[in-house]
Order: sequence, then C-alpha cells, then structure tokens
Amino acid sequence: MTIYMKKTLFVLFFVLIIKPFVGKSQVSTTLSHEKYRPRFHYTPPQNWVNDPNGLVYLDGEYHLFYQYNPFGSDWGHMSWGHAVSNDLKHWTTLPVALQEFENTDGSKSMIFSGCIVVDSLNTSGFFSKGFKKGMVAIFTTHIEKNGKGVLQTQSLAYSADKGRTWTMFHENPVLDIGLSDFRDPNVIWYPQKKKWIMTVVKSLEYTVQLYESADLKHWTLLSEFAKQGDVSKIWECPSLFQVPIEGTTQQKWVLMISSGHRQPNYLGMQYFVGDFDGKQFIPQKQDSVFYVDEGKDFYAAIPYANLPQGQNPIMIGWLNDWVYAGKIPTEKWRGGFSIPRKLSLLNDNETFKLRQKPLISSEIPTNHVSLKANQAFSSKLTKINKNVYRLVLTIDLKHTKGFDLFLLKNKEEYSKISYDVLSETLSFDRTKSGHVNFSEQFASIEKMQVKQVNNVLTLDIIVDKSSVEIFANNGANVLTDLVFPRNETSSFEIKWKK
Ligand code: FRU
Repeated sequence: MTIYMKKTLFVLFFVLIIKPFVGKSQVSTTLSHEKYRPRFHYTPPQNWVNDPNGLVYLDGEYHLFYQYNPFGSDWGHMSWGHAVSNDLKHWTTLPVALQEFENTDGSKSMIFSGCIVVDSLNTSGFFSKGFKKGMVAIFTTHIEKNGKGVLQTQSLAYSADKGRTWTMFHENPVLDIGLSDFRDPNVIWYPQKKKWIMTVVKSLEYTVQLYESADLKHWTLLSEFAKQGDVSKIWECPSLFQVPIEGTTQQKWVLMISSGHRQPNYLGMQYFVGDFDGKQFIPQKQDSVFYVDEGKDFYAAIPYANLPQGQNPIMIGWLNDWVYAGKIPTEKWRGGFSIPRKLSLLNDNETFKLRQKPLISSEIPTNHVSLKANQAFSSKLTKINKNVYRLVLTIDLKHTKGFDLFLLKNKEEYSKISYDVLSETLSFDRTKSGHVNFSEQFASIEKMQVKQVNNVLTLDIIVDKSSVEIFANNGANVLTDLVFPRNETSSFEIKWKK
C-alpha cells in the first residue's frame, strides 16, 4: 500500500468511524429535536450511561468521563465514555477513553467507576521526568465469567495527552482483596503526608475503606468507616474531600456515599461532615441521615479533582435511579448528568450541612420573580411555553398557607411543587407528569423539610425537558427528579392555598 493509500484510508476511517462520535453534543440542533433530550444537561449522543467517572480539571478543560455502553442503550460492556468542556456548560463528546476487554481465559474485564488524578509530581513514574500533566485513572476492574461477576479489583491507566489516549498499567490490578463487590475508588492528594488517599467501598458490607499510597501502585489500609447512616441499600461511589465553610476561611471534610433514599426501595446519596487526620474520618454528631438530594434521580456524584486552588468543590451526579433506569422512555440514549453543582458548607447551629449551587448557562430562558401571597404568576405572563426554563423565585409566605406550583402543565398532565407553610414541607409530585407506567416505582411524591427564612422561601427551579432540579433556600435543600411529559409545550402556574 502506498503512503497515499494509507492516508486516504485513515481519513476515511476518521470521517466514517470516529467523527460521528466527536462533536458538540449538548445543544446540537439535531439532537435537541429529540423529545426528552435536555438542552442544558450533558447526555451522550447515543447509548447507555450511568455514573460520572474521572471528573478532573486540567489546563482550562473540565473532563467528564462516564460509565458507558458503546454498543447499546442498556447497561453492559461497561467502558468509560468521555466529554470535555471549558465552562462546565457546553460539552464536546470525545471517543471512548477506556474500553472493556477480554482476558486470555475468556473472562471479560469491564471498566467500572473510578476517578482521575493529575500526577504532577510523577509519583507513579508513568511519565517522563519533570512532566507535570500526566493523568492517572484509578478504576474498578469488574471481571465477569459466563455472565457472572466474579471479582472486583482496583486498576490504573495513564495518559500523557490530557485524557485523549490511555495506556493500561501492565501490572494491574494494584488492589485486590478477593471480593466480588469492592469498587469505585476515589483518590485525593494529601499534602501533609505526601500521600494519595483512596476511598473505596466493600459494597455489601456498607463499608468505606481508606487506603494510602505514595505512588498510586502500592496501597496500605488506613481505616474503615462502616454501617453508619443509611444502610437500606448497598454502598457505592464514596468520596472524601474538603469543603469550605461559608463566611470563614475554614474547611471541613465531607464523606459522600451513594446508598439508599429516605423512601425505602429507592436510591440516593448520603453525606457525613467531619474531620480527617490523614488516617481516619470522624463524623460530626448528627441526629438524622443527611441526604445530598431528596429526589429520586441524583446518584453516584463525585467531586472534580485538581480544581484551581481556592475554588469550591464542584460535583456532577447521574440523573437516574437504578430502580427503573433501564426502562426510562428515551430513544437511542439512556441516562444523563446533573447540572454541575458548586459546594459549600453552611453552619446550622454548629451542625455543618451542604449547600449546592447550580452552574448553569445563562442561555436557559430564565425568570427572576419576587412573589407575594395571592399574586398571579404563570407562563401566560412570562411567555415561556417550552419545556426548558429556569424559575428563580423569592416567595413571601406572609398571609398564605402555602401554594401549588404546576410545572409542565398540559391538559390533565403536570408536575407539581407544593409548599406547606405550617409543616415547612416542600413536595414534588410526578404522579401525573406524563409517561409514568414504564415502571411501577416511577410515579412518586417526594417530600423535604424546607425552613422559611423570615417568612421567605427561595426556589431555583431548572426544568430541562425530562428533568426538574429544585434548589430551595439558596441550595440548602435540593430535590431532583426525572419526568416524561407527553407534550413538548406546556404552561406553568401558581395556585395559593387559602
Ligand atoms: C453505581 C455503580 C458502581 C459501579 C458502576 C457499574 O451506579 O453500580 O458501583 O462501579 O455503577 O456501572
């Protein structure tokens, strides 16, 4: 073959095979015509996704790797898909980064969830001397034999070209304790000890293990954090990181775990705030479980690694619930991600709690409104009639018992946010939101406690075709749910309780 023929073949290969998978995917015009495809949330052009993986920032780029099935819209062949953004708002999909592979004994290794660190000191020795931009992915290898999961171990891959191409470490795995449910490593740099710290779970034992390593290759067990808070479901996707306390120069450690939900038989995330001394995590006293998000569709979130110094942590979660994730009525894609959320800690009578603020593009049609009891507020007055919008509301609750705010309303269909002043409860009702029968567990009502502050309630509501994210009281209370309205146009309207 001549060089010219080789070049032509390469160009054809790129244009026909690779190119369709590369490109701005978030608001691309063809994709945004799809009924449930969100416009302001990242979704893959096609196929199945679950957990965000390897959230890492490097040189102006935010990377979003994720659990991905390159071959279809059901869970399987788990690999790492990849998207990048320079503002966390517009994303470009890149080719698959880490792919499932077959072993010589016929078993398969899937690439399960994990993280990426920037090994700027080259502690791993994977990079050339002085190179500061090497990425190391630490992930779970899930080994399947005859369709059955037999072992989960922690493995490494590395990249010297900002995540575009990856090499598997030839001595994988780096951590194997012989368990079939041992997964989702998340690694941070702990400068005081000049060590890497890993959190990873023994899922069925509701146990987070903490390990340390000087080189990412050899790991020593430090301590365990087990059976606290919500143990209604197995534990997955732990992470341990520092979060600034608002109005101070101090930080506390937060341990996040994907586990159960306030309502039995659903999944959610819980967190603990506390201290970490390089060995052990000690949580503050808390008299109830702290859930990250009170909705049914926020799971497996992890924070960004390597953010510029002084920047608050940012996390992204998977918008779905394993209980019905395989059945949601989208077309050739299934699953997507939350709006990135900036985190801080607020001091509530010496108990520290998370606050989450959405980092969303200002291009979303937005209404900022201050409302008083009995005041009319509807889409008729604001001209928003598509299923993509944001309502930023400051609601004066004096002289009212509460309200029902109907969203995505079209004839008999609606999704409803209600607030009851007396019990200080906010609820979200999706029982009449459209397609709900694809799973018996989908139609549901969620409730969360939201305190009024001087008779005022603030709500930041993001509606994006098939999701509703509610940030109440400036992000102190958050609720995220999927919805599948039958129509692509709708109205909204508030009704006050007498
Ligand atoms: C969480 C999870 C992880 C696992 C991955 C597999 O949603 O179950 O524990 O690594 O998904 O896709």
